[in-house]
Amino acid sequence: MTRKLSPYEKTHLQRFGKGDIDIADYGEMPVEYITGKVEFGEQVFEVNKNVLIPRVETEEFVNLALEKIEKEEVTIADVGCGSGAIGISVWLELQKKTVATQMYLSDISAEAIKVTKRNVSNLIEEDENIKIFKSDLLESYPKDVKFDLIMANLPYIPSGRVAILDESVRKYEPHLALDGGEDGLKHIERLIKQAKDRLNPGGVILLEVDYTHDDEYLRRKLALDDMQLETKQDQFQRMRFAIIIN
Ligand SMILES: C[S@@+](CC[C@H](N)C(=O)[O-])C[C@H]1O[C@@H](n2cnc3c(N)ncnc32)[C@H](O)[C@@H]1O
Repeated sequence: MTRKLSPYEKTHLQRFGKGDIDIADYGEMPVEYITGKVEFGEQVFEVNKNVLIPRVETEEFVNLALEKIEKEEVTIADVGCGSGAIGISVWLELQKKTVATQMYLSDISAEAIKVTKRNVSNLIEEDENIKIFKSDLLESYPKDVKFDLIMANLPYIPSGRVAILDESVRKYEPHLALDGGEDGLKHIERLIKQAKDRLNPGGVILLEVDYTHDDEYLRRKLALDDMQLETKQDQFQRMRFAIIIN
């Protein structure tokens, strides 16, 4: 069956100089991988097959992160940064508000880190307050740093659902960015354990989570004890964001 492009896909290909391609050569490949570009918030980010294409829901994540920043000086981590879309967007907004920011961007994938670095150099002037490095969750972070905000859009799709995702996702996006283990919380559970004593008082962990979870399950599974938990739906009315406050 011939692939039929949506109006968004047509516009995207045209905007990034690929309006003339024969789409039949690309199977179900997402247009963002064809052009190597994605529009996210007000910026255009570089993407390739080593990073997830940042989703529109994640723009809401950025807004939630910005709402949680009340101080004039903050230390922030974007764990599992992929293309760097979240951390870079938050950084750019905080620069406009002249909030003094230390930003850590990390990912377990060395290939993803290369993409983050290119996006940082394309979108931000060099700044010693931005650190980009490979790390399994918080393992390679400097031990003495405490955070006001840890942002993490880690893989959260339960393993059993990865095999039945749309072909455009399953076949083209990195499984390292998708598979969250049996219930989707494998990485998140480990992150919370590592992050608990790395937060400043009032510090926040902001997560994207699978829509199948509810507050009670998250509280129990993540052993949140006396930490506060708020959850929020995304623009598609699906449970999506978990905000954990120290
Ligand atoms: C769902 S993607 C999100 C990427 C990006 N944050 C975004 O919103 O577009 C998850 C990212 O987490 C990374 N990742 C997977 N396991 C990780 C781990 N143990 N530690 C750090 N990053 C990890 C993947 O390589 C991938 O880039």
